[in-house]
Amino acid sequence: MNREHMIHTNLLRWNEMTSIHEKSAFYDVAKFKAGACTLKSVELDEIGDVTGKSLLHLQCHFGMDTMSWARRGARVTGIDLSDKAIALARSLNDEMGLDARFLCSDVYDAPAAVGGEKFDIVFTSYGVLCWLPDLDAWARVVSDSLKPGGTFFIAEGHPVENILEWDNEALKVAYPYFDPAPIECASDTSYADRTVKVAHTVTYQWQHSLGRIVGALIGAGLTIESLKEYPFSAYEKYPGYMEQGEDGWWRLKSQEVNVPLLFSIKAAKAK
Ligand SMILES: C[S@@+](CC[C@H](N)C(=O)[O-])C[C@H]1O[C@@H](n2cnc3c(N)ncnc32)[C@H](O)[C@@H]1O
Repeated sequence: MNREHMIHTNLLRWNEMTSIHEKSAFYDVAKFKAGACTLKSVELDEIGDVTGKSLLHLQCHFGMDTMSWARRGARVTGIDLSDKAIALARSLNDEMGLDARFLCSDVYDAPAAVGGEKFDIVFTSYGVLCWLPDLDAWARVVSDSLKPGGTFFIAEGHPVENILEWDNEALKVAYPYFDPAPIECASDTSYADRTVKVAHTVTYQWQHSLGRIVGALIGAGLTIESLKEYPFSAYEKYPGYMEQGEDGWWRLKSQEVNVPLLFSIKAAKAK
């Protein structure tokens, strides 16, 4: 299976998911249009004030997080592989009268897509790394996109979360933790709406260990300023086995299983 074919297969899936997500309660576009911020406490607390800063959002999907940063005063650019997601992001941006810029590009071509522009902040979050075959190349994109002294921030599902599966009785280790090979996944619904059937069921994904993620960023010349692990998830990863707290995060119902479900990294480019 060549890489081009796998990325194209994923693109078809994401284009289809975009129209499902637009109508989903999970994404709640109406609430966003009414002024709600879609950013979560993890990134808001760690990134802080973005007023007047330039921010590149990699894998922005249809841009509600990107535009939430714009509403908080950043000058934002969102990049995504899915042309349907970028078209929806642009249309929401126009409707909201915001000045976010959205570009359709593979993450690996981001520096060319932005014409070599450098940013104060590079941001990416929640469900991004599993779509990327080459983390070293990704980390170089991050580093190349930052100004000297710039900040990179990622909040993402923990690689431990990805290897576990709930089989209605127990949470079991179902996938290898260390696995550089692409994984062919089949799923006929989206995490955002499990009632709508998806036609493009197959995707290709990659499992990246925490060591490889951190190692790729260090290898690209970034300095890790913080690495945090959290016992909650951004969505109901294991349906039937999780409950959502008042803070919006999803936690395991059983206290017996005590594993990280989310991590964040803040890293700096040298001045
Ligand atoms: C789970 S979503 C991002 C999550 C985002 N925080 C959200 O919930 O809106 C993953 C995104 O990655 C994008 N993507 C997948 N592979 C990509 C690639 N190679 N280059 C750029 N974007 C890609 C998809 O199109 C999708 O919009």
